[in-house]
Amino acid sequence: SVAPVVLGVESSCDETGFGLVSEGVLLGQGLASSAAQHAEFGGVVPEIAARAHLDAAVPTLQIALQDAGVGLDEITHVAVTSGPGLATAVHVGLAAAKSIAWALDKPLYGVHHLAGHAAADTLEHGPLPAQSIVLIVSGGHTSILAVGDLVRDPIEHLGDTLDDAAGEAFDKVARLLGLGYPGGPAISRAAVGGDPTAYRFPRALLRGGDAPFTFSFSGLKTAVARTVERIQRAGEVVPVADIAASFEQAVVDVLVTKAMRAVHERGLSALVIVGGVAANRRLREAAQQRCDTDGIELRIPPISLCTDNGAMIAAVGDLLVRSGAEPSGLRIAADPSAVL
Ligand code: KG4
Ligand code: ZN
Repeated sequence: SVAPVVLGVESSCDETGFGLVSEGVLLGQGLASSAAQHAEFGGVVPEIAARAHLDAAVPTLQIALQDAGVGLDEITHVAVTSGPGLATAVHVGLAAAKSIAWALDKPLYGVHHLAGHAAADTLEHGPLPAQSIVLIVSGGHTSILAVGDLVRDPIEHLGDTLDDAAGEAFDKVARLLGLGYPGGPAISRAAVGGDPTAYRFPRALLRGGDAPFTFSFSGLKTAVARTVERIQRAGEVVPVADIAASFEQAVVDVLVTKAMRAVHERGLSALVIVGGVAANRRLREAAQQRCDTDGIELRIPPISLCTDNGAMIAAVGDLLVRSGAEPSGLRIAADPSAVL
């Protein structure tokens, strides 16, 4: 039989992504973003995102096909994010994927967005280790997962955030520092040259106790806001670089501490970090240092595969196809608040 050529479609937030994957190999992809259209609102506006997905869908698919050197008629399977995500946004990608699968008469697979983030790493580093801890840090999620075979074994949730996601904290703090949206890259740029020890911001639940893998970032955001207000009231100039670096350090300390705790508690030897915040340089460096010290294999996808994209959804689709999973069918519904 011929190798599958799986088209992946992603539209859960502000990125419109199409990717083509065959037997674990990324053939090509196309990506469009409506981030600039949300900038003035300081966060993603669902209606604007949905409209932008509709405008971008066909041209971005064409870019992906061209990048892969694949014709529409060579696609053998279609995979699409069915959730979680913004309902209006997920619906557009789902409608596009259903249309393509129906027109080509090919099977359609619904994919969980977070499984997609985890699978992104396989496109760079090959199959995931037999057992690993996956730290997912994005705009909507902050989770520590125990993962075996991504599509065959159940994924075990060790902990989540009680309030804001890590990326959300970056976005909110960027907003209050006047740095714009998306906040992650803006904070990283602003933090260059800043002193990460200038401010001792709170590291919530760091010691664990009865919440060893649970996160909370809303107190950190409030602490940064109070600090900025205090400085402004005193009529002083806000030291943006120092605050950004100190904020980043607080987030990174908590993420790395808890992820490593999970690796050790489970007696595993591999940590995978994925999602938009995995693009963060301070996080990548701190995790690498800890893993080197502890003899743990660290896997983080290249930055272009950390943030939302269609290739990661195609990667899950490709794994599903090769594992012999049943397609979801054309009647699959969006599941905006899907849990793993
Ligand atoms: O995975 P993603 O593209 O979308 C979601 O599934 O949410 O993640 C987006 C999030 C945003 O909150 C953005 O600010 C954050 O990832 N992000 C970063 C960096 N690049 C993107 N956070 C910290 N440092 C970065 N370099
Ligand atoms: Zn995402």
